[in-house]
Amino acid sequence: MDKREFARRRKRLMDMIDIGGIAIQPTAPERVRNRDVFYPHRADSDFFYLTGYPEPDAVAVMVPDRPQGEFLLFCRERDADAETWHGRRAGLNGACELYGANDAFPISDLDDILPGLLENKERIYYTMGRYLDFDQRLVGWVTRVTAKGRAGIHAPDQFVSLGHLLHESRLYKSPQEIKAMRRAAAITAEGHRRAMSVCRTGMYEYQIEAELLHTFMLRGARSPAYPSIVGGGANSCILHYIENQDQLKDGDLLLIDAGAEYDCYASDITRTFPINGNFTKDQAAVYEVVLEAQLAAIAEIQPGNTWNMPHEAAVEVITRGLIDLGILKGRASKLIREEAFRPYYMHKTGHWLGMDVHDVGDYKLVDEWRTFEPGMVTTVEPGLYLSSNIKGLAKRWWNIGIRIEDNVLVTKLGHEVLSANAPKQIDDIESLMHQERAA
Ligand code: GLY
Ligand code: MN
Ligand code: MN
Repeated sequence: MDKREFARRRKRLMDMIDIGGIAIQPTAPERVRNRDVFYPHRADSDFFYLTGYPEPDAVAVMVPDRPQGEFLLFCRERDADAETWHGRRAGLNGACELYGANDAFPISDLDDILPGLLENKERIYYTMGRYLDFDQRLVGWVTRVTAKGRAGIHAPDQFVSLGHLLHESRLYKSPQEIKAMRRAAAITAEGHRRAMSVCRTGMYEYQIEAELLHTFMLRGARSPAYPSIVGGGANSCILHYIENQDQLKDGDLLLIDAGAEYDCYASDITRTFPINGNFTKDQAAVYEVVLEAQLAAIAEIQPGNTWNMPHEAAVEVITRGLIDLGILKGRASKLIREEAFRPYYMHKTGHWLGMDVHDVGDYKLVDEWRTFEPGMVTTVEPGLYLSSNIKGLAKRWWNIGIRIEDNVLVTKLGHEVLSANAPKQIDDIESLMHQERAA
C-alpha cells in the first residue's frame, strides 16, 4: 500500500475533526506469551490504517492546521545496540521519510510533549476503553492542562469517539484495500485447495493446519488472520474449535475455517469436505442445504439491499431443508418465526471483513439495518451443526457439522466473491480430491 493511501486516510479524518480538534491513536502494546517471549507484534488496526507504521511503542497524533505540521508520530529512536538484538527501527527520520509524519518525537518524550499539544484545544478524538493504561495517561495529561486554567490556558472539554469516525471510513474499502483483500482471499483459497488435496484418513488435524499455514507463508501472508479451525467429525460441530489435535477418521467430514492475513487485511474462508474424498448420502444431503442457503444469501448482496437480507434468505433455505431432511416438522413460516433452526444453526450469516476478521462498522443506523454499498466486504457463512448432543436428533445425522464461508465484496452492480477459487460444489470438491488420490 503506498504512502499516498495513508495520507488520503489522514486527510479524510482531519477534515472530519477540523480546527479545535486533536486525534490521538496509540498502536497496540506488545504482549507477553510466556516469561520473556512476546507474541509477534501486530499493529492496532486503527493505528495502522492511519500510518502504515508497523513497529510497537508508537502513538499517532493529528492536529488539523498545526503550522509546524499536522501529523505527528511518537516512536522508537534508532539505537544500534537494541537494533542488533531486536531488529531494525525506522527511527525519527524514518517516521517522516517513510511514513509521512510531519514531525517525529521519541516515544519516551510523550509525557512531556503531549499535554502541550492539548492546550487550548476544544475536542479530543480518542477511542476510550481499548487500552486502559493509555486511557489513564490521557486523563493525567488533560488534568495537567486543566491546572493551567489560571494562566489563561484552557483544556479540551469534549471527548469524541475516534473509533467511530475511523470505523465508518474502514467500512468502505478503497481500490488498494480491495486489492489486498483479493490477494488474502486468493492465498487462502489456495490453502483450502491444498488441504483438500493432501487430506487422508489417519492424519491429524494439526497436520492439515500445517498445510494451510505452509501455503499462507509461501505466498507472502506471514500470519493467519485468526487461529485456524480444523475440526474433523464431532469437532466440526464446535464453532470455534482450535485445538486441532485429533486424528481424522474415515467417513467423517472435516470443517476448515482459516484465513490468511495479507498486508494487514484478513480473509475468512470455511470449507467442509469428506476426509476420504467421498460424501455419504446423508452428508451430501445436509451439505446441499447449506450450499443452497449460502448461494441464496450471496444473491442478496447487492447495493440497496439491507444487511439482514442474506441472513433471512439463509434461514429460509435452512428451515425448509431441515423439514425436507425430516429433522424439523411443521410449517416453514411458523418454524422460522419460532427460530426452530437455532439448535442446528446458532450464528449469524456474516460479518464485515477488513483489517480485522470481525471488522468494524455499524450494522444498524438509527435502529435500521444499513444497506449494502459498493466497497463494503462481508462474509457469508451459513452452517448446520448436527451435534450428537442435540436431544432427539436421529443417529444418522450425528457429527455432521457443515459451514461454507466466502468473502464477498459489494460492487456497483452487485457483488464479487473474492474467495471463489476455493471449490464448494460437491462435484468440484470430490474431483479435486480424487485427482490427487489417482496421481
Ligand atoms: N472465523 C470466525 C468466523 O468465521 O467468524
Ligand atoms: Mn470463519
Ligand atoms: Mn467469519
